[in-house]
Amino acid sequence: MTRHAHITGWGMAVPERVLTNLELEQIVDTNDEWIVSRTGIRERRIAANTETTASLGTQAALRALQGTDVNASDIDLVIVATSSPEHIFPATASVIQDNIGATHAGAFDLLAACTGFIFALNMAAQAVRSGNIDKALVIGSETMSRIVNYEDRNTAILFGDGAGAFLVEGSAEPGGVLSCVMRSDGSGGDLLSIPAGGSFMPTSPETVANNLHSIQMNGREVFRFATRVMVAATRDAVEDAGLTLEDVSLIVPHQANVRIIEAAARGLKMPLERFAINVEKYGNTSAASIPIAFCEAWDQGRIRTGDNLVLVGFGGGLTWGAMALQMTMPERVITKVDRRRSRRIRTLARMRSMSRRVGRRVESLFLRTHAEAKT
Ligand code: UT7
Repeated sequence: MTRHAHITGWGMAVPERVLTNLELEQIVDTNDEWIVSRTGIRERRIAANTETTASLGTQAALRALQGTDVNASDIDLVIVATSSPEHIFPATASVIQDNIGATHAGAFDLLAACTGFIFALNMAAQAVRSGNIDKALVIGSETMSRIVNYEDRNTAILFGDGAGAFLVEGSAEPGGVLSCVMRSDGSGGDLLSIPAGGSFMPTSPETVANNLHSIQMNGREVFRFATRVMVAATRDAVEDAGLTLEDVSLIVPHQANVRIIEAAARGLKMPLERFAINVEKYGNTSAASIPIAFCEAWDQGRIRTGDNLVLVGFGGGLTWGAMALQMTMPERVITKVDRRRSRRIRTLARMRSMSRRVGRRVESLFLRTHAEAKT
């Protein structure tokens, strides 16, 4: 029996704090007129001190479960696409797995910069289609504000924080993920990178003094690369799905710069109205930008059951990719009961996590006492 991977839930979370272009003018040598005309960005969200990549990802994941009959303990796999992880390890996915009580899930992070969500969604869909798993949570979550140097006007104006999540479920019904193109070109890795903090350049007083733990970017080169690959990847994904561009009702692109999206629209000869665009509100939230744009497009009634969509992205690596999918989820209504359920899931998960930590402590104390008694 052929299995298909369907998107059956989705959710997003962004910090409350808004950083406007006017505020950025006070921080770095830039101005609102330049930022809006060159990027389309007007404001972005910035995580509070208490918010992290995992906390935003947890909120988005719980919202993705709302309006579905899936419990966190039913989830088989949690993948988090991020370039601003909670730690180098443990994986942010492990933190979220614990936060939501996905007690039967394997969890790992995937690093493909802004293309990460598409790659992660494809990995989850392939695992579901193979029959190896049935339910996966795919999360794109970022706190880019923690890895941006706010003295560098080249990058400070672009990035923002946020998270988005999809619930993927298997069934014999056709639809869901139809095709996916995944591409990389490591020869362009230096065009967009965080040079220090890894095994190549471990953290040292010099790396900190020289800001080598923050994003370094050759904006013009990334721009040229992006406009080229968005069109080609979209065409390939549509063709692989056996569709034509006319069959696609909405393209949900990575939100980096409105001029890149406009160039893609021109290249594909599609009107801009068939693109989901919200870069003006959130800036570039890297791996989170596609699911956030999707959630807002759904809330605005721009996506309906039966629609064919393309998700398309590009980013550091260099990486790029596009996915064609058909929406099969019928009407999704989120009620107060669902929100209460999310809070309950979170509270129970906290209690479970705490009891496991205490249990581990008690066990190790017991083993130590036992060993001491023997010697
Ligand atoms: O997810 C992937 C992440 N990265 C991207 O998507 C980035 C892709 N690249 C871009 O979006 C654009 O290249 C930028 C928005 C980063 C830059 O826009 P641009 O139109 O390529 O500007 P530019 O770098 O060619 O610079 C044009 C001018 C320069 O001045 P001069 O040399 O012409 O006098 C810059 O110094 O604009 C100046 N400039 C700024 N002025 C005010 C550069 N950044 C700023 C700024 N505010 N923030």
